[in-house]
Amino acid sequence: MFTLRITALVAPFFALPVFAASANEWQNRSIYQLVTDRFATSNGSSPSCDTSQRLYCGGTWQGVISKLDYIQNMGFDAIWISPVVANVEGNTGEGEAFHGYWTRDINSLNEHFGSADDLNALASALHSRGMYLMLDVVVNHMAATSNPPDYSSFSPFNTQADFHAECFISDYNNQTDVEQCWLGDTTVPLADLNTENDDIVNTMYTWIKGLIANYTADGVRIDTVKHIRKDFWPDFAQNAGVFTIGEVLDGDTNYVAPYTQVLDSVLDYPTFYPLTSAFVSPSGNLSALVDLVTQAQGSYKDGEFMTGSFLENQDNPRFQSMTLDQALVKNAMTWPFVQDGIPILYYGQEQGYTGGADPANREALWLSGYVEDKPLVNHVKTLNAARKAAIAYNSSFLTTPAKFLSTTSSTLALSKPPVLALLTNGGNSSSPSWSVPDAGFPANEPLVDVLSCTAINADGNGGVSASAQGGAPMVVVPVAALNKSGSVCPSLATGSGSQGSQGNGAGREVATGVAAMLAVGLSVVTGMLV
Ligand SMILES: *[C@@H]1O[C@H](CO)[C@@H](O)[C@H](O)[C@H]1NC(C)=O
Ligand SMILES: *[C@@H]1O[C@H](CO)[C@@H](O)[C@H](O)[C@H]1NC(C)=O
Ligand SMILES: *[C@@H]1O[C@H](CO)[C@@H](O)[C@H](O)[C@H]1NC(C)=O
Ligand SMILES: *[C@@H]1O[C@H](CO)[C@@H](O)[C@H](O)[C@H]1NC(C)=O
Ligand SMILES: *[C@@H]1O[C@H](CO)[C@@H](O)[C@H](O)[C@H]1NC(C)=O
Ligand SMILES: *[C@@H]1O[C@H](CO)[C@@H](O)[C@H](O)[C@H]1NC(C)=O
Ligand SMILES: *[C@@H]1O[C@H](CO)[C@@H](O)[C@H](O)[C@H]1NC(C)=O
Ligand SMILES: *[C@@H]1O[C@H](CO)[C@@H](O)[C@H](O)[C@H]1NC(C)=O
Repeated sequence: MFTLRITALVAPFFALPVFAASANEWQNRSIYQLVTDRFATSNGSSPSCDTSQRLYCGGTWQGVISKLDYIQNMGFDAIWISPVVANVEGNTGEGEAFHGYWTRDINSLNEHFGSADDLNALASALHSRGMYLMLDVVVNHMAATSNPPDYSSFSPFNTQADFHAECFISDYNNQTDVEQCWLGDTTVPLADLNTENDDIVNTMYTWIKGLIANYTADGVRIDTVKHIRKDFWPDFAQNAGVFTIGEVLDGDTNYVAPYTQVLDSVLDYPTFYPLTSAFVSPSGNLSALVDLVTQAQGSYKDGEFMTGSFLENQDNPRFQSMTLDQALVKNAMTWPFVQDGIPILYYGQEQGYTGGADPANREALWLSGYVEDKPLVNHVKTLNAARKAAIAYNSSFLTTPAKFLSTTSSTLALSKPPVLALLTNGGNSSSPSWSVPDAGFPANEPLVDVLSCTAINADGNGGVSASAQGGAPMVVVPVAALNKSGSVCPSLATGSGSQGSQGNGAGREVATGVAAMLAVGLSVVTGMLV
């Protein structure tokens, strides 16, 4: 794995510094995913929104701008919004295209969400806060409202010859079928673009470049990646020129791994499944999560580092539609913030939303009142702050794979120095305890569980023994890693929060690594650059 990682990173590092920098710049971010139509209205009104109707409810880009404080206050420094291009209009029989995934014209914007000025204003508002904008794009298909489609309704691909011959995907074990047959159904056929045709391919490459440039986007999430041949993607990513993260909807790391070679990153679907089942009940299988993550660390181009880690998204039932036990919820929500990948939180999870399968999981957030003083909002705030503190305290945090130290049927310990995450699926009536002799802290180091602000001391060998009430998770860090003027357990914190202040010389090590690499060619020090 280490060798693969070096190879993968060195090439873009020398050939395309801007591109490589973009992926690296995303690695220390934390992403808030929102459904534009359901997040916030332009004028702060709170129209009713019956998710089962699948109609536009009124969210806009101006609405998002008006609620950036809410997002930033939780510690997020990037947002992922719904696809922005013009979609099919009217009620298709499967509802309206409020989600943005039913493209009609790739060169026009979805006017329900606002104007080009509004989208540019959103990008500017984000950038002035030091936040990033991730666009969501669909390249595989266009959406029709009749079968066969009226091809002339699409733009710019307006003839049948621009598409693969109609056939709905019937065999997911046949990759040709997956790539060349169609998604959707006879009500909303998703006409599959002929991405074996050079004209189509070049149009898409030019388009993504223009889209990113026109709206100064910082990253792009790509829909239905596995439905286009793999060798389409490297040039698409290069034309995007920013961080690319692909949706490869499959739970098998062997299936997903090759896609990590053609894009910067994938959404971590393989982990999502065992993560959900591990924490959804006390009988969940924690070993299955450990095994899966270990496989992914060993088989993806950059291990798990660049993957997008999520517990919820727009396509799956929310976690709280499966259990309302807040201890299980808090444990599961902790995962994306303590592992190797980039944390992604799907809007509404912080408000305790409970929607089941699509369309129920696309609730209007305005109905929550955006209340900030709530247990899960505070949970997310603390987790984001702890991750930021960990990155600042030890730059190796981003480049050292998380290690599982001890797993029992109801507890696991995940070490990613300076963070030790102690998780449990015992549920709210359990009293979990963890014994982690090889936790790796300095002997007798003063530590704190940031979720409860409980002081803990490492033992004489740097090990940790701890227990929690009510099945709560613990996120343990040295008190020296926390800023004493900061928001996380300030009464115990002893650090200043500034990088390099604790003597591991993080910033300097990386600089030395680059210099050494340039001087002597590719040596083992490149491992530090991930
Ligand atoms: C993330 O890392 C980049 C360097 O790659 C640095 O410039 C930036 O300040 C860091 N941002 C955060 C939020 O830590
Ligand atoms: C807010 O905008 C909606 C939709 O455009 C409109 O129906 C409503 O009257 C507006 N409310 C206020 C208070 O301006
Ligand atoms: C795979 O799918 C393609 C496209 O549908 C089809 O032409 C081909 O016969 C299938 N191959 C097998 C082995 O089923
Ligand atoms: C970007 O802007 C150019 C110039 O206005 C325009 O021709 C092009 O269609 C735009 N591209 C997209 C994807 O919006
Ligand atoms: C848990 O998952 C592992 C696979 O990682 C499997 O070997 C084991 O049998 C499972 N345990 C139970 C109780 O199902
Ligand atoms: C544990 O969670 C369940 C499910 O939400 C709830 O019914 C129960 O009251 C909770 N028990 C405690 C002790 O919080
Ligand atoms: C920083 O991380 C590295 C790699 O995990 C670890 O060896 C080292 O002990 C950590 N240092 C601190 C101060 O956390
Ligand atoms: C520590 O917290 C204080 C108060 O919030 C803040 O001004 C300072 O920038 C923080 N230090 C770092 C390095 O984040």
